Amino acid sequence: MANPESTETNEAQLAVHWKEEEYYYPGTQFIAQANMTDADILDRFGEKNFPECFKEYADMLTWYKYWEKTLDTSHPPFWKWFVGGEINACYNCVDRHLPKYRNKTAIHFVPELESDPIQHVTYQELYVRVNEFAALLRDYCGLKRGDRVTLHLPMVAELPITMLACARLGVIHSQVFGGFSGNACGERIEDSQSRFLITMDSYYRSGKLLDHKKQANIAYETAHKLGKPPEKVLIWQRHPGKYSAETPLVEGRDFIINDLLPKYRGHRIEPERMKAEDILFLMYTSGTTGRPKAAQHSTGGYLAYVTGTSKYIQDIHPEDVYWCMADIGWITGHSYIVYGPLALAASSVVYEGIPTYPDAGRPWRIAEELGVNIFHTSPTAIRGLRKAGEDVPRKYNHHFKHMTTVGEPIEPAVWRWYYNEVGKKEAVIVDTWWQTENGGFLCSTVPALAPMKPGSCGPGVPGIYPVVYDDDGKELTAGAGKAGNICIRNPWPGSMQTIWGDHDRFVKVYYERYCKNKDSKDWRDWPYMAGDGAVLAADGYVRILGRIDDVINVAGHRLGTKELESAALTVEEVAEAAVVPIPDEVKGRVPDLYVSLKPGYKPTKELQEKIAKALSDAISPIARPKHVWIVPDMPKTRSGKIMRRVLGAISSHGATGDVTTLANPEVVETIRVMVQDEGK
Ligand code: WTA
Repeated sequence: MANPESTETNEAQLAVHWKEEEYYYPGTQFIAQANMTDADILDRFGEKNFPECFKEYADMLTWYKYWEKTLDTSHPPFWKWFVGGEINACYNCVDRHLPKYRNKTAIHFVPELESDPIQHVTYQELYVRVNEFAALLRDYCGLKRGDRVTLHLPMVAELPITMLACARLGVIHSQVFGGFSGNACGERIEDSQSRFLITMDSYYRSGKLLDHKKQANIAYETAHKLGKPPEKVLIWQRHPGKYSAETPLVEGRDFIINDLLPKYRGHRIEPERMKAEDILFLMYTSGTTGRPKAAQHSTGGYLAYVTGTSKYIQDIHPEDVYWCMADIGWITGHSYIVYGPLALAASSVVYEGIPTYPDAGRPWRIAEELGVNIFHTSPTAIRGLRKAGEDVPRKYNHHFKHMTTVGEPIEPAVWRWYYNEVGKKEAVIVDTWWQTENGGFLCSTVPALAPMKPGSCGPGVPGIYPVVYDDDGKELTAGAGKAGNICIRNPWPGSMQTIWGDHDRFVKVYYERYCKNKDSKDWRDWPYMAGDGAVLAADGYVRILGRIDDVINVAGHRLGTKELESAALTVEEVAEAAVVPIPDEVKGRVPDLYVSLKPGYKPTKELQEKIAKALSDAISPIARPKHVWIVPDMPKTRSGKIMRRVLGAISSHGATGDVTTLANPEVVETIRVMVQDEGK
């Protein structure tokens, strides 16, 4: 998650040791069917046509009323898009598809248990379920446009149904990642001043039915202590008709949605005519410290942007079966599981569980069964699947035309595995760089038009003009070989409007650093600072080095953690790698390296040495890690990100803090014993 607040201003000059990678070209079959094959697109979306170029995206939607002004810059950096326009997001994702696609699947819900059948929710069924639930929200809860509700739902069809029902009424949804603790959820209820909490009794994770209702009680208590308890807690049943959590209901406070719904059978709700600038949803970024901060996203600009990028970058056609393995509780899921794909009438897969349950073949079996042809996931997930070896995907007969990677820099070795083994050399890959704050992609290749380069996300997508500045605000030219802070020079429709309830923080975190003139109403004076380090290659491709704070300064030599990890991953035996800094009297900081191995390999002293050597060979002797810890598994969040913070605490003998929300808390103690006993 982005957290540019912790950016240290002097950390832009990262050492860059990446070697240039070869291009890979899109296949003719892909190009023949692609949505965007017009090489003029970047020109059409070039600066001379800005901001009117974004009309092309907005025109993919159905508006009640056309906008009068494409971009209003009168209150920088609070840009307003499609001013005067009126639109409803739910109408665009559901109703308007009915004449043509009524019987087409909108959502394939794949339960984690493989013995449970996949549910195929058609557009007609989605329409009915969204309307009935919207009726309940309006008439039973008294919710109206502008109200907030917090959702704490797992990956089930009810999650997009709930989001769309809210959008239909103009109610602002704030979905908190289902794997987050009740406590985190409660804080977000208070911060957003939500009137209701909508949750589910239970869900499956790693084959176990988890009691999720327990979290709702904690969330309620936390919000209560903070002074804003929700009026009611609404609970979907994971198994309709059967309450399946151990934690009991609280009389007068908790209500089962499945019991209430029959009263609303057949109800239809006219979608609210929302202003383009009205808020569609809040999405909290995972700040580790301080108050949670929510990116506030608009209705018209956001929907136009995710629809346009889903069409051109994700190459989604209505006939595609599209699977993004992210969680809807993150921005990727909002933009590229729900709003973008559904606005284009695609069939979008919602998978409940973890990719490796019951084994690493599961994603490929799902892809086979549903005929998935567009696949979207993160480097972390790819590394996890790679760990099981290429024999697994090779067993399956899935065929992707297109694959996406998002969320972290991808090491070229992992990229190639994704391309060769998962994509079978048939699929194009887009490496999409962006953030919760941005609504949609910022940098990526347009897949039919530009070659891919492993480890580089590519140039700005149409209408996005990136620039890399050094610490003094000097532009680093393409091919300069220096790293700096990546910024976007211009506003774009998908950008968040502000941080919910904290406009000052919004300006300070993202715009203050490189603002050229605070009194200017010209957008050119207000570059957006993403908080990532990046290098701009001679061909205009951007290589993201990770958060500016993900930097280890070894004896004045600034090493990106990603390039160190990438070097470790070139070693055949290594499945996953994580680098953390530890204090060193001489060098200031030195890297400590944690790795897990692919199956069938054993930890040995020789292997440790081989890995350490790989880092010093690939980067420099200065990059040689103090230790190479070969661990059975990495501590991971439920969303699969490696918790470097926990490893860092272990390495420097600090407190690991609360690890109970991790996917695998038990591994923390194993690693602690290994590291700290050795150190004695
Ligand atoms: C990182 C996820 C390299 C980056 C959409 C960013 C990436 C942060 C990429 C935002 C990518 C995201 N290559 N790094 N393709 N995509 N990042 O808010 O550091 O969860 O600032 O949004 O993830 O994470 P967030």
